[in-house]
Amino acid sequence: MAGITNAEFLNKVIPYGFNVATLGGYSLDAPTIEASKKIINRGRKEFDFPLEKIFSHIENEVASIKSNHKDVKVSANVRSTTVQPIIELGKIKELDIIEINCHCRQDEILAIGCGQEMLKRPDLGDYISKVVDNVDCDVSVKIRANVEGIDTLMVSEIIENAGADYLHIDAMKKGVFDADYDLLKNICNDVNIKVIGNNSVNSLENLKKMIDTGVDGFSIARSIISGNLDFNIANF
Ligand SMILES: Cc1cc2nc3c(=O)[nH]c(=O)nc-3n(C[C@H](O)[C@H](O)[C@H](O)COP(=O)(O)O)c2cc1C
Repeated sequence: MAGITNAEFLNKVIPYGFNVATLGGYSLDAPTIEASKKIINRGRKEFDFPLEKIFSHIENEVASIKSNHKDVKVSANVRSTTVQPIIELGKIKELDIIEINCHCRQDEILAIGCGQEMLKRPDLGDYISKVVDNVDCDVSVKIRANVEGIDTLMVSEIIENAGADYLHIDAMKKGVFDADYDLLKNICNDVNIKVIGNNSVNSLENLKKMIDTGVDGFSIARSIISGNLDFNIANF
């Protein structure tokens, strides 16, 4: 979660049972950094690091988590208009997963073709495979489901064919305050990469519904900030 999930925050919540911790989202190039500044200026939280500091900052954050929790995989959720900065990030030795953010829906990010607008790029598959081919760590792609004009199943196949290791899906559905479990089931039946289900895992009941879709894992965002989880993640 931009502006929130830094190493200090993650080091505190990992003991609740998480085996992957995701830092970010971070902006990695001049257009996304500029967009982040505009978002901050209208009062929303964002990480705010200049181009010359962002890579060393992430490296230090990864090291902080690894030194406290050596068995936890560390992921960095990132936005960039071009692949090169993401490939650069892959040089961080302790980073286990790079997560390409095709999910953000803040207007300033959409205006530069990033975040969920990435799902409309005709070269989305090429973008992902260039990252996959040029980094040693695993690659995750975080998408938002049910974006208008986008066939989520087709995008999932593009991501699989591009060689990504994880498909992380915010299974949001407009007007519904729960995850789109049917869509997740269809995707799990259709693709062979690891699917991480996300959205509304805020109770044992919802967690069971999420697991029943066939996902390989699940992620939790808002309930971690609120501290209202009614189950022990370590049991799953
Ligand atoms: C304040 C806030 C900031 C977020 N920032 C990011 C982000 O930078 N990158 C990202 O992929 N998702 C981001 N998300 C989305 C969450 O990771 C998650 O996909 C979404 O909240 C749905 O999951 P949940 O129901 O467990 O909260 C953010 C969510 C919130 C509430």
